[in-house]
Parts: sequence; structure tokens; C-alpha cells
Amino acid sequence: MTPEELDLVCDLVHDLCGIALDNSKDYLIESRLSRLLDQVQTPTYTDLVRHARGPQGLSLQKEIINSITTQETLFFRDSNPFDAVRFKALPELIDEKSKSFNPKRLRIWSAACSTGQEPYSLAMTLIETIPDIHSWDVSITATDISNEALAKASRGWFPEHEVARGLDQTRRTRFFTPEKDGWKIKDEVRYLLNFQPFNLLKDFSHVGQFDIIFCRNVVIYFNPEDRKRAYLGLTNQLAPNGFLFVGASESLIDLGDRFQPQHHCNTVYYQPNRVLPEFVIANKVKTESGI
Ligand SMILES: C[S@@+](CC[C@H](N)C(=O)[O-])C[C@H]1O[C@@H](n2cnc3c(N)ncnc32)[C@H](O)[C@@H]1O
Repeated sequence: MTPEELDLVCDLVHDLCGIALDNSKDYLIESRLSRLLDQVQTPTYTDLVRHARGPQGLSLQKEIINSITTQETLFFRDSNPFDAVRFKALPELIDEKSKSFNPKRLRIWSAACSTGQEPYSLAMTLIETIPDIHSWDVSITATDISNEALAKASRGWFPEHEVARGLDQTRRTRFFTPEKDGWKIKDEVRYLLNFQPFNLLKDFSHVGQFDIIFCRNVVIYFNPEDRKRAYLGLTNQLAPNGFLFVGASESLIDLGDRFQPQHHCNTVYYQPNRVLPEFVIANKVKTESGI
């Protein structure tokens, strides 16, 4: 791949999904995209980009997204955020909702859900924590930009080695049915979820409002400007008392004082800052000037 072709591919990938690749990633790009050259019967990446940007390019764009995105995930990944949902977010939300017009309505979003392990882990956490869950109006919206990842997530079937990553025997037998060479998620879990395609860099206006949002291990691939844009979109969809969980190496620092980091169960989650920004600024000035 020539340096010019590398630039063309990096620009295309950024336009499609926000992933910021630089010139040092030529090996990764070639290893993930070279098979598409054969598929569209073209010898050059310049042609591949031209096809993808052309009027018939939609299906090739999807293939590029499926190939270039990293779908690494596992059940109960990093475990602490799921403990914070169980011991902090759900008890608080249940208490608040008991005083509201919709005492049993919960809306949860796993944004960038990959092949489904994260939203299924959230569903298992809910079932384990709320004994009468089936009388609740619960919906876990699970979205991703990759249609291939979503198709697998929606099917709810996982091979043995994936089930072995993060699930103990008790959860396996409670929430899955063994099938040939793999495990199928039970209907009592599956029916809590709905899967939809969504690009975190597009319009959020139709998405709705959520009590809990998980958006983990995706914005690390974005540049700072896109990262901020995605977080702003997400935070606008968070209910006033909602909980936003990001990846262990991610933070909302770019959004300034609007969101407060909270610590619980060895993890950090974010909530809208209920203290007026003016008050925060005044306090900072006081502290810094030693008043
Ligand atoms: C590493 S996985 C993280 C999965 C899960 N959240 C976790 O932490 O285990 C990153 C996912 O982000 C998705 N992704 C990448 N760019 C995206 C975008 N612009 N909008 C939505 N999803 C995106 C990828 O398709 C991939 O499934």
C-alpha cells in the first residue's frame, strides 16, 4: 500500500465509523482489508476506496466496518461496573422510580455492544437483582455499528470458548441452554433486549432516554474531537438521575464539570452534576486561593 493509499483508507475509515487510524497502522489495515480487494475484484486500495465511496458502495462500506472494527468483548468484562449496577444503580433507581408515574420502567443502553456479551451480562444482572423482573417494563437497547456483530448478538448463541470467558457454571446453567458445540441464551434473558444498528457519531435525537448507559471500550479508537461528540450525544440521552459507565481507561474529562465522576465498587460512573457549574467554579477559586 502506498502512503497516498494509506491516507485514502484512513480518511474513509474515519468517515465511516470515527476510528482514527494513522500511518503506523498499515499492517493492521492490510491484514483486515486485503480480502476485500479480491471480493470487489480490484488490485488497489485506491479502487477499493472509490468503490466504497461510489453510488453502489453501501454494502462494501458495511464490509469495511465489519473488518476494521475490533469486536473484542467478554461476559461481565471488568466485572466492577456490573457490581456497581447491582449494588448502587439499581437500588437507587428502584427507590426513585417507586415515587414516580412509571415505578417499574427501566431503560438501559449498551452502546457499542459488539457481539452481545455486555448487554446479556446486564440482563443477567437485572434478573439476579430484581426478583419480580418479569412484572417490570424493562428494555435493554443494544447497538453497534457492525451489522455482523449485531447479527451474532441477536442470535444469542455462543461457542464454548466464549461462554468460558466470564461466565461461571451457575450462570451458564441458569441463563443458557447447551446446544451442539455451544450455548444458547434462554428466552427469559433474550426478551429483555432489542438490537439496533447505531453509529455513535451520528444523530442521537431519536434514541430516547436511558437510566443506565454502558459505552465502554469504543471511544478509545476515536480522535479527541469525535470522542467528545460521542460523549455529548450519550450524556444528552441520560435521565437526570441516570448512570453512565465508560471503559476502565476512558473518562468524561473532556466534558468539563457537567458530569461528576462517582466511585463505587472499585469503578467510576458518571452522573449529571446537580451542583450549578457557577458554584463549582466559585468553589474551585475559593480552594485554589486558599479562602
Ligand atoms: C472493543 S468492542 C467493545 C464491546 C463492549 N462495549 C465491551 O466493552 O466489551 C468495540 C465495539 O465498538 C463498535 N464501534 C466502533 N465504532 C463505532 C461507532 N462509530 N459507533 C458504534 N459502534 C462502534 C465496534 O463495532 C465494536 O463492536
